[in-house]
Amino acid sequence: MEPEKVSPQLEISRYFSQMKEMYGDEIYVENVDIPLEEGSQLKLSDFEKVISDCQECHLSQTRTNLVFGVGSEQADLVFVGEAPGRDEDLQGEPFVGRAGQLLDRILRAIQLSRKDVYICNVLKCRPPKNRTPTTDEIDTCMPFLEKQLELIQPKLIVALGATAVHSLLNINSPLKKLRSQLWNWRGYDLVVTYHPAALLRNARLKPAAWEDFQWIKQLIH
Ligand code: URA
Repeated sequence: MEPEKVSPQLEISRYFSQMKEMYGDEIYVENVDIPLEEGSQLKLSDFEKVISDCQECHLSQTRTNLVFGVGSEQADLVFVGEAPGRDEDLQGEPFVGRAGQLLDRILRAIQLSRKDVYICNVLKCRPPKNRTPTTDEIDTCMPFLEKQLELIQPKLIVALGATAVHSLLNINSPLKKLRSQLWNWRGYDLVVTYHPAALLRNARLKPAAWEDFQWIKQLIH
């Protein structure tokens, strides 16, 4: 009999179903990297399905929704924030609360919309009471962000705020020392700017953020 021809996606999905059946959720998610590395045609939406039931850390117990990301899978520009807040957890979409509304206005000011870019976070699940993510939580969730960025292959990554910058670049300097420079993350250009929530708390940061976004506009056009 002829061997059955299956797409890489179907192969991955079958692999995970088998793993889940045999070992339960823990190993099902822990082994996420092995087959994905081989799935050359893997799409971002497939990857979202693969991690949609992640139980890798305790944040899965308190989340309402895992907040994967939103926007274009072919985006030139990817924004990386910290973690979902209350509104994001409830709606399953990043940056939909007050900080998100400000981000939308900033994007409009540089002639872009959510559909043109991709927006995601370091953590995919909300830390209770919006506390800062712990190092353990970041370490556990980072492979998902890394995979997202590898699948999108953006021209430019914008790290919004300290958690995103420190997680991606592994540098603990203050943001004001890290902005206005072109960094490199695994071959991708990366720039640093303030988190929109910081701009809401401290309006004096707005002129600097404005400069950053004017530069971002030049870099991608
Ligand atoms: N702050 C973030 O860092 N991410 C969100 O999605 C919302 C608020």
